[in-house]
Amino acid sequence: MRTLVRETSLAPSQLIYPLFICPGEGVRKPIGSMPGVFNLSIDEALKEAEECAKLGLGGLLLFGLPEEKDEQGTGAWAEDGIVQQSLRAMKSNRALDGLVQIADVCLCEYTSHGHCGIVTRDGDHAHVENDSSLELLAKTAASLAKAGADIVAPSDMMDGRVAAMREAMDAAGMQETPIMSYAAKFSSAFYGPFREAADSAPQFGDRRSYQMDGANRREAMREIELDLAEGADMLLMKPAMPYMDIIREARERFELPMGAYQVSGEYSMLHAAFERGWLEPERTMMESLLGLRRAGADFIVTYFAKDAARVLG
Ligand code: PBG
Repeated sequence: MRTLVRETSLAPSQLIYPLFICPGEGVRKPIGSMPGVFNLSIDEALKEAEECAKLGLGGLLLFGLPEEKDEQGTGAWAEDGIVQQSLRAMKSNRALDGLVQIADVCLCEYTSHGHCGIVTRDGDHAHVENDSSLELLAKTAASLAKAGADIVAPSDMMDGRVAAMREAMDAAGMQETPIMSYAAKFSSAFYGPFREAADSAPQFGDRRSYQMDGANRREAMREIELDLAEGADMLLMKPAMPYMDIIREARERFELPMGAYQVSGEYSMLHAAFERGWLEPERTMMESLLGLRRAGADFIVTYFAKDAARVLG
């Protein structure tokens, strides 16, 4: 009877698994703060992707660790960039047809300073410049779409980037590739472990000049409205668990497909408690995901995707 009257469902097809792709061959380097998560070379990422496809997951979210970084983040839009290469490999593997390939669009993994845009220095003062970053981000989105991304997902939080990306992708003949915008991405301590996984910690300062203040709910709605006006096709809310009120409010206001990103720190803190025997792993994991669906997320990006799919069977 409980099954009959259950209001919220969770299925493997609603889960998206992030992958961190690195150069080399046969590389499977564990991330210390994220048990079960690795930096994977393309050959290993393909094996991981095949497992995800067998488990019936909805898709993958790809991040890249380039061979070299520079001030402009050249590796982000390089024709032979690490994510571009992986996308080509993934798209030519028939076993992966059921997986939606989502490419994260940002510069922070590719810049030597670790910021998500272009940094200008003026004496002791350095700042991330919004407008000059747009062209590079747009170039990156077009390059990833051409390499085979089914969806591009901008996470940089520069203002105006959705419009800039739409224009660059259309000009590149990729009119049909949708944009999933991290429209209201909050500046969060919960991204800590990701910065180890993606080697993307800012070398100075923090991301508060472009990511949102966690205190602001109305501003979050305004950020979403702006991205929709610029042409965003879907939304990705993040972090997830500390911002469930924002997810619920966005669900009630906007008709677009919307996902929630249960970020690295959310995964790490639960694992830390599992390791100590303080929380029951399976029940806690499933409850954390069901709660996000109930809050209004259509799909969830989560490092638990494979484990949860195994439980769901
Ligand atoms: C890139 C980006 C970040 C995350 C996704 N894309 C890190 C950041 O903004 O510092 C975080 C994801 C996670 O913590 O799992 N800008």
